Amino acid sequence: MKILTVSSANMDFVMQTGKMPASGETYITDGSYSYVPGGKGANSALAFARLGADSVFCSAVGKDANGDALISLYEREGIDVSFIKRCEDTPTGLAAIILEKESAANRIIVFPAANHRIAKEQVISALDTEPDAVFMQFEINSDITLFTALEAAKRNIPIFMDAGPADPSFPYSSLEKVTLFSPNETECEILTGISPDNFDLCVKAAEKLSEMTRAKLVVIKLGGRGCFVYENGHGEEIPSYPIKKVDTTAAGDAFTAGLTLEYLRCKNIRRAAKYANAVGALTVSKLGASSSLPTADEVDAFISERGIDINE
Ligand code: RIB
Repeated sequence: MKILTVSSANMDFVMQTGKMPASGETYITDGSYSYVPGGKGANSALAFARLGADSVFCSAVGKDANGDALISLYEREGIDVSFIKRCEDTPTGLAAIILEKESAANRIIVFPAANHRIAKEQVISALDTEPDAVFMQFEINSDITLFTALEAAKRNIPIFMDAGPADPSFPYSSLEKVTLFSPNETECEILTGISPDNFDLCVKAAEKLSEMTRAKLVVIKLGGRGCFVYENGHGEEIPSYPIKKVDTTAAGDAFTAGLTLEYLRCKNIRRAAKYANAVGALTVSKLGASSSLPTADEVDAFISERGIDINE
């Protein structure tokens, strides 16, 4: 299964801290910091590779040390990096992540830098490799996201979209032939005005999102509650699996990648959602973005150890 991801690549500067300083306060933490490869697109492209797909990544990084580190990681993981541009005059994207030790919740500021330099020609060449599906998010220029979606639709390549980060100004009504659209709770609220706090609100939000994007499937990520799957006017909550949370960074990117890959394999969205919940659970159990993404064997072991029947 060949999946083309057209999206962002960042180096994440992760600060693990006990508390957030107030405005004007200097707080000396006993936490730690690290640099971990991240970026919503790269996290998903890596998740595809680790879960057994043939992963092609179209993106842009700077000609700098962070760019070198990211590309060598992708190569080691078997990702096709032929369509990643190296920019002379723009640095690699950077995300500053503040991770609260207690709650495992994060706050992220993204400096897109080279991510805004992805060119249409790169996208065309990557699509010429005839992938089985195209995967996108909204962390790059919206004209490239729209261009990719329209080109993929022209070529009848199925389109899978993770809604993060929410971009309310994106021309969703121009989209065609989208198979999956998947926001998290925050993105759902920004895009629909509905916070998916219970089953009825999930149905209302999914109806709106499905009308807005004309996607065949809408899956709302509900964090610790699992996810809500909506297909053909029918909705269902698929509960998460309990796990000790260490860091939620990249959990959504990994979840949507797992959902996409498993759906492409089995064409059953319930089964795909159960598989994706396992991918998400394993991702939150470890620190960092790329460092927390599970392999296919780890997901299979989790499913079997927990006695989960994903076909049920
Ligand atoms: O979704 C998590 C990602 O968001 C991080 O890896 C960071 O780079 C930002 O893009």
